[in-house]
Amino acid sequence: MPLIAETNRRADTESPLIDVLAERWSPRAYDKNALIDEATLTTVLEAARWAPSASNLQPARFIVARRGSVSFAKINDALKGFNQAWADTASVLIANVAKLSIDETRENPWARYDLGQAVAHLTIQAQHEGLHTHQMGGFDAAAIAAAFNLTDDQAVVSVTAIGVLGKPSDLTPELREREIAPRTRKPLAELLLAND
Ligand SMILES: Cc1cc2nc3c(=O)[nH]c(=O)nc-3n(C[C@H](O)[C@H](O)[C@H](O)COP(=O)(O)O)c2cc1C
Repeated sequence: MPLIAETNRRADTESPLIDVLAERWSPRAYDKNALIDEATLTTVLEAARWAPSASNLQPARFIVARRGSVSFAKINDALKGFNQAWADTASVLIANVAKLSIDETRENPWARYDLGQAVAHLTIQAQHEGLHTHQMGGFDAAAIAAAFNLTDDQAVVSVTAIGVLGKPSDLTPELREREIAPRTRKPLAELLLAND
């Protein structure tokens, strides 16, 4: 296996991107001893805070759990097995929560969209800080809601692992194969429903 396949995961883009976008990818191998310093973690969360949102309602909420904490164990326990297989070596797990209502009578139709956008900004700031992120939909949302006493107005939409890149060789053979598989995307033209 050529070394390049393990180390260079930069996107093969059709048009040039800024480095943090081209270099972001979703690893499963993290350094299980690495800690994220508090100032950097705050900066990463600050990126989420300053993301745009519909009517500036800011519906994104975050359960931030550092490895070794009670909250980390609660989130990790709620992950599906295929995510538990690697996510416990991340430095931080964040449960991403959308506040669904504007007030007692009105839903916020953009809550999940805005949460996703906040998480996207977080991932890019993390990449800029030399960290990596991996978002997950494979978890038991009801279990996280129960573990953190969330209300019906607070939907757990995704979980993000943040950490320092580890070595594919530390993974099981099955995970390692996925870790070094070529990164692919549909052609841009396929995404453009109209483009005149
Ligand atoms: C909402 C969402 C849910 C995801 N769920 C999972 C998951 O449960 N497990 C996993 O290993 N990856 C998950 N991913 C990661 C995607 O598979 C990954 O982003 C995609 O394959 C593109 O790869 P890249 O991020 O390395 O470019 C998820 C990503 C997103 C945005």
